[in-house]
Amino acid sequence: MNFLIIGNGGREHAFAWKISQSSLVQKVFIAPGNAGTERENKCENINIDSEDISALRDFAIEKSIDLTIVGPEAPLVKGIVDEFEKNNLLILGPSKKASQIEGSKKFMKDFLKKNHIRTAEYEVFEDYEESKEYISKSKFPIVIKADGLAAGKGVTIAHSAEEAHKALDDAMQKKIFGSAGTKVVIEDFLQGEEASFIVLCDGKKTIPFASSQDHKARDNNDLGPNTGGMGAYSPAPIVTEEIHKQVMEKIIKPTIDGLKSEGITYKGFLYAGLMIKNSEISVLEFNCRFGDPETQPILMRMESDLAEICLLAAQGNLNEREISWTKDSALGVVIASKGYPFEYEKNKEINNLENENPRQKVFHAGTKTQEGQVLSNGGRVLCVTALGSTLLDSKNLAYQKVKNIDWKDGFYRDDIGDKAIKS
Ligand code: AMP
Ligand code: GLY
Repeated sequence: MNFLIIGNGGREHAFAWKISQSSLVQKVFIAPGNAGTERENKCENINIDSEDISALRDFAIEKSIDLTIVGPEAPLVKGIVDEFEKNNLLILGPSKKASQIEGSKKFMKDFLKKNHIRTAEYEVFEDYEESKEYISKSKFPIVIKADGLAAGKGVTIAHSAEEAHKALDDAMQKKIFGSAGTKVVIEDFLQGEEASFIVLCDGKKTIPFASSQDHKARDNNDLGPNTGGMGAYSPAPIVTEEIHKQVMEKIIKPTIDGLKSEGITYKGFLYAGLMIKNSEISVLEFNCRFGDPETQPILMRMESDLAEICLLAAQGNLNEREISWTKDSALGVVIASKGYPFEYEKNKEINNLENENPRQKVFHAGTKTQEGQVLSNGGRVLCVTALGSTLLDSKNLAYQKVKNIDWKDGFYRDDIGDKAIKS
């Protein structure tokens, strides 16, 4: 079978690596991919942008692609699944309507409220003056979110009125997120511990993937600006068996059922970003796709055939299928370009990327190959991931490789996993 994976991040490298291990798979195309995906067995990068839906459709027809898997949210929100299905192409991902769960924070928050799913109290504003007035009566910290897609950068946790006004000004006046910021959601700040809970839906059945935890802040001790994610581990000890059961019953099921009652069938990965305090579980966000960098440690722990699971889900045939996971832990550390999540330079040489141990894997994200040399090509550049019999072992093995990579222009957090290791 021929697979097409859309995207160019660490998530897509991990998908390509895992899918290509399946005996069902002859060839994996990645559009556009990165320097890591093109080095994987059976894999080939295709120079088509991940948002160029008509070119992707034509490619899938031309190459008789058996299954397309969509990594990032942007093509989903733009309606790639609707377009592929219209052309009888098998694709795994939610429709344009279903992707609103990530594409609009207002849609997501209103949906949660309507379906009695716990989430932070919020207000939505389209008027700048009204949003400023709301802030003048608020307690801090408070959370300000651009309504639309902002590449993981649309959320500000404001600790003062000044920070809140700046976030509103940036989104609504300066329009730094374009039309994504013309509406904002302002919500209460929740305390607790975060976890990522990802499930796969086939339109009828929903199966959970292993739990994980991301590290969104740029710097050690969760300081600094929010990023797309600086490292992740799996499983997340905070997601006990009881919490897992509660999440499935009180969050995932009412979400899938609530969408269905609005005439929306959800197919594909659904990612719930959770805040857990004691046994209270709130939804911080939904994503209509797999997480990055959560994919990297999660897929390292997966023993089942990912290609087969994705095919079954796209065909609506998951039935009672379960996924098997190693009991080992996995932990991934992101190495980013100095300056990220703000301005940074590209085209810097990176060396010593080879895996030295079968339990380590260097996943690429913002990389490209030029005349045989790997160069940096984005903000988050690598995610060095390792398996260990404990979380501490996986951390030690991941950092051993992180320190050995030769790239002067990169930086990383050195406390990934520490909160779970110490608790
Ligand atoms: P989001 O994209 O909505 O998940 O927000 C990005 C990150 O901001 C989350 O992973 C949290 O770390 C933080 N965050 C978002 N909303 C809240 C909230 N209401 N309370 C506390 N932290 C939040
Ligand atoms: N790691 C967070 C996300 O994928 O949105």
